[in-house]
Amino acid sequence: LLVVCVLVSLLLRRCWKPSSGDRGLPSPPGLPLLGNLLDLARKDLPVHFMKLAHCHGPIYRLRFGTHDIVVLNNIEVIREALMKKWSDFAGRPQSYTADLISFGGKDLSLGDYTAAWKIQRRLAHSSLQRCQRISLEALIIQGAQDLCQEFRSYGGTPVDLAEDFSMHTCKIIASLAFGTTFEKHDPKFQEIHKCISDLVSLWGSPSIFALDFFPLLRSLPNAVLDRLLTVVKRRDAFVKEQLEEHKRTFQAQEIRDITDNMILFLKERGGEGLQSLGDFDEQHIHMAIADLFIGGTETTASTLTWTVAFLIHHPQAQDRIYSELCDALGGGRRPTYSDREHLPYLNATISEILRLRPVAPLAVPHCTTRDTSISGYLIPKGTTVIPNLYGAHHDEKVWTCHALFQPERFLEAEDPQEAQRNTLAFSTGARVCLGEGLARMEIFLFLAHLLWEFAFLPPTPTELPDLDGSFGINLRCNPFRVKIVPRTELAGGRLQT
Ligand code: HEM
Repeated sequence: LLVVCVLVSLLLRRCWKPSSGDRGLPSPPGLPLLGNLLDLARKDLPVHFMKLAHCHGPIYRLRFGTHDIVVLNNIEVIREALMKKWSDFAGRPQSYTADLISFGGKDLSLGDYTAAWKIQRRLAHSSLQRCQRISLEALIIQGAQDLCQEFRSYGGTPVDLAEDFSMHTCKIIASLAFGTTFEKHDPKFQEIHKCISDLVSLWGSPSIFALDFFPLLRSLPNAVLDRLLTVVKRRDAFVKEQLEEHKRTFQAQEIRDITDNMILFLKERGGEGLQSLGDFDEQHIHMAIADLFIGGTETTASTLTWTVAFLIHHPQAQDRIYSELCDALGGGRRPTYSDREHLPYLNATISEILRLRPVAPLAVPHCTTRDTSISGYLIPKGTTVIPNLYGAHHDEKVWTCHALFQPERFLEAEDPQEAQRNTLAFSTGARVCLGEGLARMEIFLFLAHLLWEFAFLPPTPTELPDLDGSFGINLRCNPFRVKIVPRTELAGGRLQT
């Protein structure tokens, strides 16, 4: 018994010994051996992290198994890490599960800050830019008009429109990535769309998350992991089919889409022998396409759904946007992206939704690439760092009445540009969202078209959407129904007199 007691206490001492770099970093108390498992197992993690910040300050350390996790909860510490010291915080933590679904770590979003990743990111960025320049605005306007047509066809019957937003954002990124215009009812499109939503929800499951931290679990049966791997196979079969078809019909003088642009890069640089690209290979291209496709669907669609949910609660905001649109557009002209300069309240509403409900509330975990520091605390190389974007957006020292929907705050702020800079829904620094420009244009144009033509009402005065939502890797709006009424059917075109 004595030997067991000595061994256990030695083990506990080992677990609690601070590593040399993090001495002094505040740390909420945890359990012996399990560390802060209970803190990390919370469903409302971003809100819980904020509460911990009230007691321990904006930066603290949590321990999970043998891992240290540093959480950043306000704008100053997030900016210091991700902007000022961007390359120190540009890594991603090594992950068993991420490796399983990305040819051993060749993912764009989850891949570490290596030479091959830098090539992959630059290529994904330039391919997206190139396609955006060609046709983006017209493509999105067409999407917005198709969506209006669909909403008209509901004839005022209450509907859940989350699926419609998701289908339409998926169609846009499919068109940019593969040059294919899918029809909503095309079984192949439905299959790939389902594959994306399954992938996102399975990836956020605790049974997957736990595998990274408890290696012993990897040898046990895991039904969720089996399902995830089946979905990944479907994703890979689809991306591979697109890649092969593009290679077969590729013409260097006519770059049709993102996939073509990536193939062009491989042909030009690969001609010199792929060795010139280090570890970079076709699997990096495969994963970059998969990531743009997945990243480009649910995030933007969720933001649109959140906007409608809030606007149902705030009919006066809908009316104000509608008046602004009528003034800016004059007669019957439809909105374009250049109209955004004349639509300050619509822009402020979008900023407020991105602030209140950032759909990736904890971004994607970062990892330090070298020994570094934040606020004077040493952070050793290889530490996982979580930027709590949601926490920064709800910091009462920065945002008065932080929980309230008040788009005016962006118009009436002493320094409106500073208010914009304080919202980080797309994060910042080396890993800033690659699709920010695309997402912003989609959100603006979809909303401008929809709010110009329709008003969004609850099915009955008491059936209002829940505004708390569900936290996972994404912050999703819980399903709700809405009555979509053409403005022409309202007295004076307005909801409120
Ligand atoms: C990464 C937010 C739309 C592609 C991210 C990150 C956030 C984010 C917070 C993590 C950044 C970090 O780790 O610090 C959003 C929001 C969107 C949106 C709020 C819409 C409202 C899109 C779209 C695309 C996209 C439309 C693709 C076309 C990506 C990719 C990454 C990423 C590829 C990984 C970047 C990297 O690791 O280097 N996004 N995103 N996102 N996003 Fe988005």
